[in-house]
Amino acid sequence: MLDIKDINVFYGAIQALNNVSINVQKGEIVAIIGSNGAGKSTLLRTISGMLHPRTGTIMFEGKNITTSPAHEIVKAGISHSPEGRRIFTNMSVHENLQLGAYIRKDAEIQRDMDAVLNRFPRLRERFRQNAGTLSGGEQQMLAIGRALMSKPDLLLLDEPSLGLAPNLVAEIFNIVLDLNKEGCTILIVEQNANRALEIAHRAYVLETGNIVLTDTGRALLTNPKVKEAYLGG
Ligand SMILES: Nc1ncnc2c1ncn2[C@@H]1O[C@H](COP(=O)(O)OP(=O)(O)OP(=O)(O)O)[C@@H](O)[C@H]1O
Ligand SMILES: [Mg+2]
Repeated sequence: MLDIKDINVFYGAIQALNNVSINVQKGEIVAIIGSNGAGKSTLLRTISGMLHPRTGTIMFEGKNITTSPAHEIVKAGISHSPEGRRIFTNMSVHENLQLGAYIRKDAEIQRDMDAVLNRFPRLRERFRQNAGTLSGGEQQMLAIGRALMSKPDLLLLDEPSLGLAPNLVAEIFNIVLDLNKEGCTILIVEQNANRALEIAHRAYVLETGNIVLTDTGRALLTNPKVKEAYLGG
């Protein structure tokens, strides 16, 4: 579904991704784990067209999207729930969800908004509330809900559990599993490597801009190097 080959991504003179190649098959949950500054968010930003690689290619469902602008990539079926949520804090929950559907003109937007509100009942209770006044967990739900409003085939999740209490972390991971069971393919970036590897079919380990290891989630959970570096020994 997604096939990234040898991408090199820079911020000015600083290289953030070095010959990175990953692929995601339809129906999978694929995790990217790595320390602070490894380049995880950069990878997701590059897939969603906020950044473009200097060299290398990104293919999505057979189409070359390497240089496509972000709105074209949303249209192609990729949606990004960014790190730090990036919701519009001066707008209501309703308006944020509407913005998630900005590329769509079909008649089913209302139905899909209902589906998102059924998945996140707290957002329904706070439908008219200013998004900036939501709790951290509710803002994360809104960020995921907004990403779902474009009806993505591939959902990119950047640190969905960051800063959340343990019960909410469990809730978010359950939602990720449900979405996947309903047919959404997921590429998830997490510092909570344990939980991410538990739910991922496959995963990649990113270290200072380089993919250093890839295997099934299960195999990485018991890999001594991964245990030592990312799973607290
Ligand atoms: N806008 C930017 N300008 C310059 N350098 C940047 C920019 N954004 C990120 N970087 C650098 O690129 C590298 C990778 O950053 P990135 O945000 O992708 O890391 P990350 O793996 O997501 O880290 P974290 O786990 O802390 O979110 C870092 O060294 C960072 O300082
Ligand atoms: Mg990041």
